[in-house]
Amino acid sequence: MGGRAPFVDVEGAVRILRAGGLVGLPTETVYGLAADATQPAAVRRIFETKGRPPTHPLIVHVPSAEALSRWSAWSSPSARRLADALWPGPLTLVLPRAAAVLDEVTGGLPSVAVRVPAHPLARAVLEGLGAGIAAPSANRFGAVSPTTAEHVQDELGDRIDGILDGGPCDVGIESTIVDVTGDVPRVLRPGGVSVESLQDVLGAPVLVAGEDDGPRAPGRLASHYAPRARVSVVDERDVAERVRAWTSAHPDSTTVVLAPRALPEGVRGGRWVEVPEDPRAWAQTLYADLRALDAAGVERAFIVLPVESSGLGMAIRDRLLRAAGPR
Ligand code: TXA
Ligand code: MG
Repeated sequence: MGGRAPFVDVEGAVRILRAGGLVGLPTETVYGLAADATQPAAVRRIFETKGRPPTHPLIVHVPSAEALSRWSAWSSPSARRLADALWPGPLTLVLPRAAAVLDEVTGGLPSVAVRVPAHPLARAVLEGLGAGIAAPSANRFGAVSPTTAEHVQDELGDRIDGILDGGPCDVGIESTIVDVTGDVPRVLRPGGVSVESLQDVLGAPVLVAGEDDGPRAPGRLASHYAPRARVSVVDERDVAERVRAWTSAHPDSTTVVLAPRALPEGVRGGRWVEVPEDPRAWAQTLYADLRALDAAGVERAFIVLPVESSGLGMAIRDRLLRAAGPR
C-alpha cells in the first residue's frame, strides 16, 4: 500500500497504455488491470503486479465483435449468436486463438478469452488505443476483485501508472466465461450473464463446468475471491446455532454475519449485516461487503448463501464458496 497512482482521464489512460504502462480500468463487471495486449513487456508486468502465475491466461477486451478477427476465429454459429445477443456485456468467450496473439496473454493455450465490455469509459479507451486490452481483475492474486476506483487505489495504487475512475461497477461480479471451442458451449465461470440467458439465446442447453474438473482457471481454485477474514458459508437454518457456538467459544473474536434477513431471535455476540435479497442487487455490493470486513478488522465471517442458484444466484454462490475455500 503506501504510494498512490494518479487518477487519469480517457486520454491519459490511452497514453499510459501506449507507453507500455498499467491502468486501473472500469468495466461494468469489476475494475480491470489493463495493459496493451500487443506489448509483451506490458502484459508480463500484469502478472508481476498481481502476483499471478504466468500459466493463468488473460481476457482480451476488444471494442466490438468486428475487431475480433485480429485475436481469434469464430468457432461455431453458437459463438456468433452469443456475441450478437450479449455483447457488449459481461460475457467472455473462449475461442480458438489467432496466430498473432501473444503467448504471454494465452499462457500458451490454443484458445484465447475475449470480451466486449459495456462500460462507456472502457469502450472509449479501447477506441482511443485501437488495440486489444489485456485485463484481469485489478486485485492481488486470490483476493477480492475491486468494484470501485478506491478499491484499486488501496490495493495496487503503489504499483500501477494510473487509475480511471468510472464509479462503482454496475454488475459487481466478473463476466461469465463460456468455452465455445467444443461442440456444446460450456460455462467455465458463472458470472454477470446467467446460464438461463445463455440458453435463451441459443435455444439449447449449455454445460456448466463442475468444481471437480481441475483448476484450469484461477477463479476455479479452491480459495479465491477471499478476504483476510476467515469465511464460512452457512445455511439459513444453521446460522444462529453456528454463530452462537463460535462466539461462545471465542468471545473476543470480531465476528460478523452477512445474511439476507435480520437477526433471528436469540443470537448474541455477532454483528449482523443485512444484504439485499435480490441477487442482482447483492452482486453489486458483494465485493465491497467482503472488503469492508477487512477494513473493520473482522476475523470471522459467517455468510448465508443465496438459496436459488438461478440467475446471478449461481455466480454469487460460486464466489462465496471460493471466499470460504481452504487457504
Ligand atoms: O469481468 C471480467 O471478466 C473481468 C473484467 C476486468 O473484464 N476480468 C476478469 O479477469 O475477471 P480474470 O483474469 O480475473 O479472470 C479471467 C479468467 C481466469 O480465470 C482465466 O484463467 C480465464 O479467465 N481464462 C482466460 N483465458 C482462458 C482460456 N483460453 N481458456 C480458459 N480460461 C481462460
Ligand atoms: Mg480475477
